[in-house]
Amino acid sequence: MYLQSSLTPSQSLARMPVIPAVSAPTRGPSGATVQVEAVLELARWAPSGDNTQPWLFEVLDAEHVVVHGSDTRDHCVYDLDGRPSQMSIGALIETVAIAATAQGLRVSCSRRPDTPDTHPCFDLRFVSDPTVQRDPLVDAIQPRSVQRRPYSTNGLTALQKSMLEASVAPSHTVRWIEGRSAKLAMAVLLFRSARLRLVTPEAYRVHRDVIEWDAQFSADRVPDRALGVNQAMLNLMRFAMHSWERVQFFNRFLAGTWMPRIQMDFLPAWACGAHFALLSRRPPLGVDDSIEAGRAMQRFWLTATHLGLMLQPEMTPLIFARYAREGRAFSASPGAMTAAGEVADRMGRVMGVDAVDRGAFMGRIGHAPAPQSRSLRKDLNVLLRGRSGPA
Ligand SMILES: Cc1cc2nc3c(=O)[nH]c(=O)nc-3n(C[C@H](O)[C@H](O)[C@H](O)COP(=O)(O)O)c2cc1C
Repeated sequence: MYLQSSLTPSQSLARMPVIPAVSAPTRGPSGATVQVEAVLELARWAPSGDNTQPWLFEVLDAEHVVVHGSDTRDHCVYDLDGRPSQMSIGALIETVAIAATAQGLRVSCSRRPDTPDTHPCFDLRFVSDPTVQRDPLVDAIQPRSVQRRPYSTNGLTALQKSMLEASVAPSHTVRWIEGRSAKLAMAVLLFRSARLRLVTPEAYRVHRDVIEWDAQFSADRVPDRALGVNQAMLNLMRFAMHSWERVQFFNRFLAGTWMPRIQMDFLPAWACGAHFALLSRRPPLGVDDSIEAGRAMQRFWLTATHLGLMLQPEMTPLIFARYAREGRAFSASPGAMTAAGEVADRMGRVMGVDAVDRGAFMGRIGHAPAPQSRSLRKDLNVLLRGRSGPA
């Protein structure tokens, strides 16, 4: 099911991000569950929106783990209907399946139908199978990360694109947005969409909570140095983010939304190999569709890492466009809905109208050095229910 490629791990890992040593679990697993806990130890490196890690693990025995999911829709404007959290849980489940191959285990997964969408639960069953082969993507799980700085403008090769397309088939297809004029149009789209991120108090509250300031690494948030802006901009942002009143002052009198948007959105959108959107067969309906999309997203991202490519998700246009399309108020800020409608229209023109409806995940991809700053993960003991983590 997973890709085989001609790249050797040493070739592809040469460009991998810096990862500091992470403290070892304080209490080890019991003998019988050593294998599944080794799988979880690796799988917790799955990505999640703003590094929220919306999951807890319950190890029932050596063959059965329950994943308790959650979402942040009640306080995060980006977690619309919990969909990005569900995609993150899908990425986790896919990562478990890939990591398990290193232990000679096959995994089946079923969602418990009686659990609410806000807290979906999944039964993961592990079966020892001598025919299981180690997936080459195992080596990409921990090094996979986000590079938010500009990339080379060289495009992807036909082979790279076809391997990435194969990684999400048959559930998803890839739409490539590439070439100078298309990338410029994407840069304008992202620049416009980013304004909403900076002028709505709902988004301000999210950023205030998820950025760890003056940090190169963060176990439960996004370190400020991974944001992709220079030190002067970081200092300004840190000062402004102290209160919503300061942000408004900057926005109003100091061209506050222009400076970060040029560094964080416009320039990176131009400086990349291509933009992409993963399109599902039909507009996503519920939790299962989002889980499937998250699994595809993670295979795509790990394949990119395996190929030595960097990636950054660009999810805000999709989210704001959906708010507009469904006429759902998301901000107290006057004009926010009109601006979201403009994002949706522009997105349709640049990426195709069907991308607005069927787009599950989008981002930019290309060649770049590994990031020097990244999110880390909570310790496995904190994520294990009934260990030292929450009950
Ligand atoms: C569903 C989803 C949506 C995301 N959206 C964005 C995004 O819009 N912009 C961005 O820069 N990173 C985005 N990310 C990346 C996360 O912030 C990142 O994966 C997380 O902080 C963990 O860091 P790591 O991937 O470097 O391990 C997203 C990740 C996921 C799984």
